[in-house]
Amino acid sequence: MNCDLELLVEQAKLRLEQVSDYASFKEEKASFLGSNGKLRALFSILASASKDEKPVLGQQINECKARIEVIFSEKLSQLEDLELLNSLGSRIDPSIPVVSNCGMHPLSMMQEIMAEIFRKIGFTVALGPEIETIWYCYDALNVPESHPARDTIDTLYFNDDLRVKNVPQKQGEDYILRSQTSTVQVRTMLTEKPPLRIISPGRTFRRDTTDATHSANFHQCEGLLVDRNIGVVDLKAVLDFFFKELVGEKCETRFRPSFFPFTEPSFEMDFRAPNIGKLSNRWIEAGGCGMVHPKVFSIVGYDPDVWSGYAFGFGIERLAMLMYGVDDIRLFYQNDARFLKQFAV
Ligand code: DAH
Repeated sequence: MNCDLELLVEQAKLRLEQVSDYASFKEEKASFLGSNGKLRALFSILASASKDEKPVLGQQINECKARIEVIFSEKLSQLEDLELLNSLGSRIDPSIPVVSNCGMHPLSMMQEIMAEIFRKIGFTVALGPEIETIWYCYDALNVPESHPARDTIDTLYFNDDLRVKNVPQKQGEDYILRSQTSTVQVRTMLTEKPPLRIISPGRTFRRDTTDATHSANFHQCEGLLVDRNIGVVDLKAVLDFFFKELVGEKCETRFRPSFFPFTEPSFEMDFRAPNIGKLSNRWIEAGGCGMVHPKVFSIVGYDPDVWSGYAFGFGIERLAMLMYGVDDIRLFYQNDARFLKQFAV
């Protein structure tokens, strides 16, 4: 009997190997486990077995039934997986870059244009991580502990237990999403010797409520030049050059006194041009800038008596909105093909 039961299990396996659709699965299931199936037949043999045989035989038949049930339920999930796979269509390789007919994203275009202009005057592009530590984002930039920008309400903090392998902590401090690309100034100065000139375009984050001109996720372009005998006049000349290249020869720039902990003196920079639609001939704020603070130089190990330099930071969205006549920042992030295709070149 035992031998027959083994055979029945094997038979179930063999039959199910041939099955590839629900209809034949149901048929096979009925023929083994249904009310007129092979197992039911075994239970009727059990009824006529002797009193001594019954318990052993009963147990064997039950085990056999359980094994057959497992075989059927495994087959059922195989069929379900197959059905799901078929409904997903042909296999895709997510590592292959998307072939898009929308062209380059306007923010990427803007970054390329900026890099191209700065490349003409010897700047290279340096990139940094979007997950940052407090040290790189604030301490190293001379932003005091009491500064409101360090408030958890202003910045996006990660849970204490997060560890990011490729962003080592300087002093076991918290991880945040970087709120400014100025972090890349520090990272570059720590790894490279002066003189240097870099720009660093990239994504930044703040706890902003999204509206037509604000987004919790936006882009900045940082600039840093370190050399000997650098003055405000060099900073002004470079920003003048940049905006003339970007907007046209008639573009003017102006500085207004301001404060940033990592530059001294610090300025807000505005530009004005006659050819920018509704905003023509109006001063438009582009970003902050200033001379690198001696404390920042000391923190990264540059001698402030030898080295001098300037830094600046612009919002990329603001420039892109202006250059491309976009009046709502949210359009940049919605990936609506109708919007994106307008910029295709
Ligand atoms: N990081 C500043 C911000 O997000 C902008 C900025 C100001 C960058 C002055 C600079 C600078 O490099 O010198 O508001």
